[in-house]
Amino acid sequence: MLRIILDTDPGIDDALAFFLALASPEVQIEAITTVSGNVHVDHTTRNALALLTLAGRTDIPVARGCADALVIPQVHAAEVHGDNGVGGVVLPAPAVQPVAQHAVDLIIERVLAAPGEITLVTIGPLTNIALALRRESSVAQKVREVVMMGGAVRVPGNVTPSAEFNIYADPHAAHAVFHAGWPMRLVSLDVTTRVLLARDQVMTWTQGAGKVKTAMREMMAYYFDVFAPTSDTPQFQMHDPLCLASAFCPDLITWEPAYVDVELAGSLTLGETVGYFKPSAHRPPNMQVSAAADAERFIRLFLERIDQTFP
Ligand code: BDR
Ligand code: CA
Repeated sequence: MLRIILDTDPGIDDALAFFLALASPEVQIEAITTVSGNVHVDHTTRNALALLTLAGRTDIPVARGCADALVIPQVHAAEVHGDNGVGGVVLPAPAVQPVAQHAVDLIIERVLAAPGEITLVTIGPLTNIALALRRESSVAQKVREVVMMGGAVRVPGNVTPSAEFNIYADPHAAHAVFHAGWPMRLVSLDVTTRVLLARDQVMTWTQGAGKVKTAMREMMAYYFDVFAPTSDTPQFQMHDPLCLASAFCPDLITWEPAYVDVELAGSLTLGETVGYFKPSAHRPPNMQVSAAADAERFIRLFLERIDQTFP
């Protein structure tokens, strides 16, 4: 059983990743930690609690994390995810509160309490993770692995021509995380933009469905209607669910070792992820980077598991 802490900024695709995690017997979610990203942390925390309430899994603790990026002003992506982060969908009122502990403290405590056991799956900006490292650097030796959604290594970004949102939103945090010397896998736009759910497929799949799949349909409908209204065949990019699945099923993705750094100085390229793939004594690989994904297998796995757990 893979014990994970899911660090997240829900977020429509974050919500899909939640439900996939809850539907996957290989995964035990130790805790969910929230961060500002797609929307402010007040909203991402409420969304996390409401999504767990919807799924009947309020046994999983949620810890509220950082409201602001380390150095730069916080940016959000409400234009993609709606003002409330879940496409304007009204989720049930949370049946529980966040735990009193701050996300950064929870991450440190849980990782140190179970050396070599906890995988950090990060699907938002890396502010909480960078602060955990800063407060207690030994988490880098105690974590099992970090699997993160972020970056655009060989492809264009989705916020600027060179930067992907999770890295762009807190590039200084990403820089600290990339250089922590821990085992890391990066699930980047190089593969996530090719793993897609089409609108017609979503509408057929969710017909007559229960409350979880209905919420999923409504969230994705917002994305299709508002974010991609001009396309005849809009498709939803499965960034965060693919990252989550690759944590417990690594062979969904082909990985390439690389030294990846984050641009912190460029006035036009802030947050760019720069990958060095040629072996070099000066820049030994600091992570495994996604090179290709088996999109068909992942989409099948996603649809089947959601069907089984949330018909
Ligand atoms: C990432 O940015 C967010 O908008 C998504 O939730 C995903 O984590 C994709 O660039
Ligand atoms: Ca996210």
